[in-house]
Amino acid sequence: MLKKVILVLVVLFILLQFFQIDKSNPFSELSNDFFQIQNTPKELSATIEEACYDCHSYKTEFPWYTSVQPIAWWINHHINEGRDELNFSDWGNYSSDKKKKLSEECSEKIIQGKMPLSSYTYMHNIRIKDPKQRQLLANYFSSLQFNTVRQEQEQEQEYE
Ligand code: HEC
Repeated sequence: MLKKVILVLVVLFILLQFFQIDKSNPFSELSNDFFQIQNTPKELSATIEEACYDCHSYKTEFPWYTSVQPIAWWINHHINEGRDELNFSDWGNYSSDKKKKLSEECSEKIIQGKMPLSSYTYMHNIRIKDPKQRQLLANYFSSLQFNTVRQEQEQEQEYE
């Protein structure tokens, strides 16, 4: 009996492998990218890219285990949901209100340790694991919620 169950599971697992996720990144204009628009300092952009871009941009890098089902489905779900909530590749299309709100949320989630997701941090050896880096990133996002507004106000003044 047990042997049969194991056999069925093994066959199921093999069959699942025929269903692969789409690993192509949609095209995005570089000029809409968060780093371009916010002119993010290099030290910070590298840390953000490594900690957030796999789920919150169209620059996702897919590690080998995204070829293994059902893990790949689970990760793909995170990517789709992550991009829905916040897409750094689409930053240029967000209103100033949305930019401000998202910057504030980024700062909060980083400080609370809720982002990046713990499953992601577990699998990746990234700089944000260092509490100092975490604080630095949170401060940066927190400062942005004021900067984006100031930039828009300056632009409005130019038009007047
Ligand atoms: C492994 C994928 C993954 C990574 C890496 C990741 N996120 Fe997320 N993020 C998600 C998912 C999934 C959601 C939506 C569900 C949720 O809120 O938990 C989300 C939601 C968010 C939200 C929206 C919260 C809200 O309630 O509107 C913010 C802001 C955010 N992430 C910021 C970040 C930042 C900043 C980083 C990098 C430091 C990051 N995330 C890294 C998957 C990820």
